Amino acid sequence: MSSAALADTAKALVADGKGILAADESSPTIKKRFDSIKIASTEENRRDYRDMLFTTRDAGKYISGVILYDETLRQKAADGTPLVKKVVKAGMIPGIKVDMGAKPLAGHPGETVTEGLDGLRARLEEYADLGARFTKWRGVYRIGDAMPSPGCVTANAHALARYAALAQEAGLVPIVEPEVLMDGDHDIDVCEEVTEEVLRSLFSELVLQNVWLEGTLLKPNMVISGQDCPHQAGVQEVAERTLRCLKRAVPAAVPGIVFLSGGQSDQLATEHLNAMNKQPGTLPWKLSFSYGRALQAAPLKAWAGKPANLDKGQAAFLKRARDNGAATTGSYAA
Ligand code: 13P
Repeated sequence: MSSAALADTAKALVADGKGILAADESSPTIKKRFDSIKIASTEENRRDYRDMLFTTRDAGKYISGVILYDETLRQKAADGTPLVKKVVKAGMIPGIKVDMGAKPLAGHPGETVTEGLDGLRARLEEYADLGARFTKWRGVYRIGDAMPSPGCVTANAHALARYAALAQEAGLVPIVEPEVLMDGDHDIDVCEEVTEEVLRSLFSELVLQNVWLEGTLLKPNMVISGQDCPHQAGVQEVAERTLRCLKRAVPAAVPGIVFLSGGQSDQLATEHLNAMNKQPGTLPWKLSFSYGRALQAAPLKAWAGKPANLDKGQAAFLKRARDNGAATTGSYAA
């Protein structure tokens, strides 16, 4: 695949009015989501739930691409059609999560490094054959006493950059996701400082590993107050701080930034993105979404594992997709 094709895919993923659905929950994570609606995480339930999302009429107007999990990329719907075909038919680009999860980082109690580099070249080739055009890898950083440590920051940046280089070699756009968790009682200043440090470290590693930034997307957290902080920064402050941080740390060559929702409420995830896109002045990159929970919480609840609720689930998903699509151009109105 040429560089031009990589850049075209990256740009298509952040087309005006569109963003990404992260439906790449690993088996333990989807089990947690299904527990919340009291249904079993069986292969059939996972298949039917994801089929419902991918076949929502008009979703392709607002959703540019879908990040799948390994099982889903290989899975057939009840009608025998591969789910990945349904994604393509809906006008959405299929992607795949390729990391093997955050594992305890030796010598750093409470911190993790994301694993999955061994054998990745062969897995990427197979994913490309199965129809994936982009990929995702998530590094996790916890804020706490002396955390994140320099060891955690550099280990995750290194793994993210090695992954991104391999993805591009396979002709797949890498989405690099360094997630500074919102867990904790830290204030927004701390989140801003840590996020900037993590991003600087990531981009210096990406450059070292010869990752082509024009064919890469960044999936960061927003700069927000810790979940348990007594003072929660407002929407405008989050927008301003996040933009300041990104302007300081993210090169203009990157075509797009697609935020994770990270446990924010649906409403806030949309309002924050909208406020950033409403700020005066032009930005070097597109600002969009790659939400998991903020797109899926409502349809999951409306569906509740009952075939009879399919229409309700799809209506709830379409609403979340449309609202976030509007937020990518700053035209969302509550
Ligand atoms: P959330 O939007 O729920 O944080 O999920 C995004 C994601 O892909 C996490 O890796």
